Amino acid sequence: MRVAIACDHGGFQLKQQLLAYLRSAGHSFQDYGVFSEESVDYPDVVLPVAEAIARGACDRAILLCGTGLGVSIVANKVPGVRAALCHDTYSARHSRLHNDANVLALGGRVVGPGLALDIVTVWLETGFEGGRHARRVGKITAIEEKYAPRRS
Ligand code: RB5
Repeated sequence: MRVAIACDHGGFQLKQQLLAYLRSAGHSFQDYGVFSEESVDYPDVVLPVAEAIARGACDRAILLCGTGLGVSIVANKVPGVRAALCHDTYSARHSRLHNDANVLALGGRVVGPGLALDIVTVWLETGFEGGRHARRVGKITAIEEKYAPRRS
């Protein structure tokens, strides 16, 4: 699984801790930055990652800002992205089982590293249940097509 990860300054510390985990767990990942705690605008950080998900250049992405709200709002503007803001493992598991979330958003100022690692582990390891949930996810895609038809 190809995982992308990115943050703004509010998620930088937690991203550093997640990177160490991804490395030790043997995940293949690409770090899209940022690489310091200098203040940046989260839409600028999120867009390249959301576009990488949309064109299939990566399978999953983890996005971090102070609350996780800004990055999730931006990511969900890009058709093909299903970003889930999860600060507990139950939501993380169900974002995969039921919503086939391809982006996990986390707030670096909301959760500590221990809980964040559990959330990431569950989120990366859980598959999509399909069935009735596939029908519902298909309806999300249909809404995207209605408001932002893909150009070919
Ligand atoms: C930056 O101060 C903060 O607004 C940002 O990290 C994020 O929480 C926005 O949603």
